[in-house]
Amino acid sequence: MSRSFDVVVIGAGPAGYVAAIRAAQHGLSVGCIDDWTNKDGKNAFGGTCLNAGCIPSKAMLESSELLHRAQHEFKKHGINTGTVKLDLGTMQKRRASIVRQLTGGIAGLFKANNVAGLVGHGKLLAGKQVEFTPVDGDVEIIAARNVILASGSSPVELGIAPFDGDKIVDSWDALEFDTVPKRLGVVGAGIIGLELGSVWARLGAEVTVLEAMDDFLFMADRDVAKIAAREFKQQGLDIRLGAKVSSATVAKKAVTVAYDDKGGAQTIEVDKLIVAVGRRPHTDNLFADDAGIQTDDRGFIVVDDECRTRVKGVYAVGDCVRGPMLAHKGSEEGVMVADLISGAAAEVNYDVIPSVIYTAPEIAWVGKTEAEVKDSGRAYKTGSFPFAASGRAKAMEQTSGMVKMISAEDDDEILGVHIIGPMAGELIAEAVLAMEFSASTEDIQRTIHAHPSLAEAIHEAALATDNKALNFPPSKNPRS
Ligand code: FAD
Ligand code: NAI
Repeated sequence: MSRSFDVVVIGAGPAGYVAAIRAAQHGLSVGCIDDWTNKDGKNAFGGTCLNAGCIPSKAMLESSELLHRAQHEFKKHGINTGTVKLDLGTMQKRRASIVRQLTGGIAGLFKANNVAGLVGHGKLLAGKQVEFTPVDGDVEIIAARNVILASGSSPVELGIAPFDGDKIVDSWDALEFDTVPKRLGVVGAGIIGLELGSVWARLGAEVTVLEAMDDFLFMADRDVAKIAAREFKQQGLDIRLGAKVSSATVAKKAVTVAYDDKGGAQTIEVDKLIVAVGRRPHTDNLFADDAGIQTDDRGFIVVDDECRTRVKGVYAVGDCVRGPMLAHKGSEEGVMVADLISGAAAEVNYDVIPSVIYTAPEIAWVGKTEAEVKDSGRAYKTGSFPFAASGRAKAMEQTSGMVKMISAEDDDEILGVHIIGPMAGELIAEAVLAMEFSASTEDIQRTIHAHPSLAEAIHEAALATDNKALNFPPSKNPRS
């Protein structure tokens, strides 16, 4: 007899596995199908995020940052270690072990929540039937009352620089190099280019990043982008803007990359080339032609604000639908859809999704940039506070960067918060919570922040919007 579930989820990345667990918490019967296969041939839940994205990249960012600090910062603290050396093998083993623990944890969570974890390929057929092709065993047709498509995304491949898994690689291969390339090229100064460029630069590679756009970090606030460009330059990242790559030729030992910029035709020679020019929705063999699913011109599954497709009872969440390709955005969509299926009210506040770039200094923001607020026509005020004036940042020897707050003139609404500096990815949570609760800037001004803490910089930036910063002279505030 064929199986049936209240909910079948296709994809066990952060969007799908979270949806499956929440649906099971509502007492629904749930099957979650996933076909992720790691380089060792083993299957694992967790999708891109846990196996090849968020988690392994943050493990490598942390390790490489520690090496950098030990080599360059310890002396300032009066700590003499002698020569600090890299053991890349151990660093990589640690990364792999964190990934194993977390992906194994999802299998455990499925068991604990009574979710049937189904390893293999899933395909939506007409009439909410799902064809399940297990990694071992026979094809099965599963009946579902509801289906959640959570199939994620894959790296965009450039025809002029196709991945070969050795010299021209995607972000997954680039996390697993077993030696530090002497010369590393990166195409794309987006989030992956900056994070992985930083990792390998700190581990000793000479890194050149080629970015097609003339503006650096076009999605970030301009004041933040300016500081970031200066910091990365100081760290030795050679970021070349307005660079249109025309070819990448692999010879035995190197890759020759040709590009055009304002100065004309240029070439660089590198030992490895990472291509990180964005990701595309992954919908290969995900649904039958007659299943009723519609995709847009970029391949994203078309959904409404509540992640419903055109087919009643079929939803899609995460990277395979519109919106930022971020794990936390996908997870919240998964929770919303599971709640809606159970009959509860639910929504995702797409205006308040934080973004974090885990470089050093970290970059984080929520809400609108100053340029976006200006374009909206709404009268606004801004306030900034530099970490150079923060006692905690000084004690940490991490004084680069600032917090910038943008607020409405009329009702004091917080419109955007932009941070570049130590622990920006943690600090942004305060701003996200404030905006989610519709707090005013004055609410943050009147909230007691522990001293000394990095969070005081958010307090001071809020005060600075009204020229009331206490630990920084108004005359030096670039916004006053
Ligand atoms: P995925 O995580 O891609 O999971 C989809 C799963 O579905 C996969 O396991 C896939 O094998 C499976 N699947 C697809 N089709 C089928 C099918 N037909 N049958 C069965 N299984 C199927 N985001 C952040 O928020 N923070 C970060 O720090 C961060 N760092 C990143 C670093 C890197 C290097 C990369 C590449 C990405 C990073 N991201 C980060 C983005 C994040 O990984 C994605 O936004 C997130 O994984 C999307 O989740 P998802 O569940 O939609 O898809
Ligand atoms: P991205 O969209 O962040 O950046 C791609 C960059 O490549 C852009 O600056 C673009 O202008 C440039 N580009 C495009 N085509 C080019 C070409 N032909 N030549 C030179 N430059 C070119 O994409 P990226 O870095 O690949 O990351 C994909 C997504 O993964 C991110 O957008 C993000 O959603 C997610 N991610 C999130 C992280 C986080 O939250 N910390 C970390 C890593 C990835």
